[in-house]
Amino acid sequence: MSNSQEERSEPFRIAIIGGGIGGLFCALSIHHHHHHSTMPGQDGDDVNGNGHSKSKRTIQIDVYEQAPQYREIGAGVGIGINAARLLHRLGLGPGLVQIAGQRQGTWFAFRRHEDSAEIVSVPDAEAEPGDVRQSPCARSDLLELFLAAIRERGAAALHTEKACAGVSVLNADGDGDERGGGGRVHLQFRDGTTATADLVAGCDGVHSVVRDQFVTGANNKSVESGMIAYRGIVPTAALAPGWPFAHWSNIWVGKHRHFLSYPITGNAQLNIVAFVTKRLGGGRLIGDREDEANKYKNIRESWSSLCDRDEVVADFAGFDEPVQRIIGLMDERPGRWRINDHEPLARWHFAGGRVVLVGDAAHAMLPHMGAGAGQSVEDGWILGRALSEHLGGSSNEKFQSLESTMQFYQDLRLPRAQKVQAASRVSGNLYELQTEEMSRLSYEDSLPVLAESLRERMKFVWSEDIDDSYSRMRDEEAVR
Ligand SMILES: Cc1cc2nc3c(=O)[nH]c(=O)nc-3n(C[C@H](O)[C@H](O)[C@H](O)COP(=O)(O)OP(=O)(O)OC[C@H]3O[C@@H](n4cnc5c(N)ncnc54)[C@H](O)[C@@H]3O)c2cc1C
Ligand SMILES: *[C@@H]1O[C@H](CO)[C@@H](O)[C@H](O)[C@H]1NC(C)=O
Repeated sequence: MSNSQEERSEPFRIAIIGGGIGGLFCALSIHHHHHHSTMPGQDGDDVNGNGHSKSKRTIQIDVYEQAPQYREIGAGVGIGINAARLLHRLGLGPGLVQIAGQRQGTWFAFRRHEDSAEIVSVPDAEAEPGDVRQSPCARSDLLELFLAAIRERGAAALHTEKACAGVSVLNADGDGDERGGGGRVHLQFRDGTTATADLVAGCDGVHSVVRDQFVTGANNKSVESGMIAYRGIVPTAALAPGWPFAHWSNIWVGKHRHFLSYPITGNAQLNIVAFVTKRLGGGRLIGDREDEANKYKNIRESWSSLCDRDEVVADFAGFDEPVQRIIGLMDERPGRWRINDHEPLARWHFAGGRVVLVGDAAHAMLPHMGAGAGQSVEDGWILGRALSEHLGGSSNEKFQSLESTMQFYQDLRLPRAQKVQAASRVSGNLYELQTEEMSRLSYEDSLPVLAESLRERMKFVWSEDIDDSYSRMRDEEAVR
């Protein structure tokens, strides 16, 4: 190793582009692992690997968010138990429990649209010791929880109104020992300012600028699902009198549409997402109506676009009374957007490991497994843990270079994230009774197919503990 004393005293600079759930959790995770991995035996787990603990280079983390504030509107996001475990390990458990809704044992009850009769009820993952459980919450509450922790711990410098316009790599010779800080990444922002970093984490979401700079061709493509979603938040207190169900997690299923609700904010609020397929794969219009086509064309992909509540009323006419009551409580201008995902990427790191993708930037997925935010949390956890081994001078050769470290992160995370990404596409078509198999079936005959395919569908997402998978992969013999 050729680190001079001078290089060692300079902090290793990490630039996080995008302060959404993925970016903020990534900052917390890098900070946490960096400061805990010098203490082998912490929590009974030698996170430094091989009990090795050299004096470590200090780090500096900067988060660059394009928006003027970190607090966005957004509606609810599901934090599955797989991600909730990681939040608890990071010390955010009590805060998470406070803001989460309680599903009371039911992930979702799927119901017939016209009379709410139950098709199938999918049980929720069972809670684990320490109040670790499924944690659906408001996106803004979750961001607030992360921000408070970042400030309290001094984990990162938070910048706003810093939209990244591009990154370029200096001294990109690609080899050598980057622990000395050989190559730097240069960041340009839209306001004309610049910054440099030793590692750039692109956490800038589905429209990632960082990704678009490195990924070419067919992989660099957003894919339309043909579905739109209306969203809103309504108070449960207004619904409680005469609410016919024992819990708040329901999906009313119609052909080419489904209406979904789950509780957030300690069950004070219901998160509503109502999906309608306007166009099937291959561009075929539902109902082949010209006006539908024109309407769809004008709907934006943006999280912040709104519509008139009348559109929700029209699209969900004929749905049972509880649905009508919910719609009546939605804002007169509910959110409405197109939902798109992205083709799977072959690579998540570039420029000798100095640029890496995290969250939706790496694996934008449709929302139908309720797993997108959880997958970005898993990314952040693993990236932080692996980076701390690299910077801590682990003697495990998997963490020798920044590039091999990022490859390790990718090897562990990519297959799982892409499995969820693919499953999310299928789920959307299942819920709307429009898979290839179902397209030949009547509404009635589709329902048993739906019930059967839902029983075990979520299990692989919830049951894997990515931390255990990390330890296993780290300790595997290298393939020579
Ligand atoms: C405003 C908003 C509202 C959302 N609402 C919902 C919702 O209601 N339900 C749901 O299921 N999911 C929602 N999502 C998506 C969900 O949060 C993500 O799918 C998931 O959390 C993965 O997060 P991520 O951090 O990878 O990406 P995101 O949550 O998309 O975060 C990306 C962040 O990067 C910032 N950013 C983007 N480009 C740049 C740039 N060039 N420079 C600097 N910063 C940049 C964005 O402003 C954003 O803060 C929303 C996302 C956003 C941005
Ligand atoms: C990827 O796609 C975006 C948006 O279409 C484009 O601006 C960008 O140049 C593409 N990137 C590469 C490397 O081809």
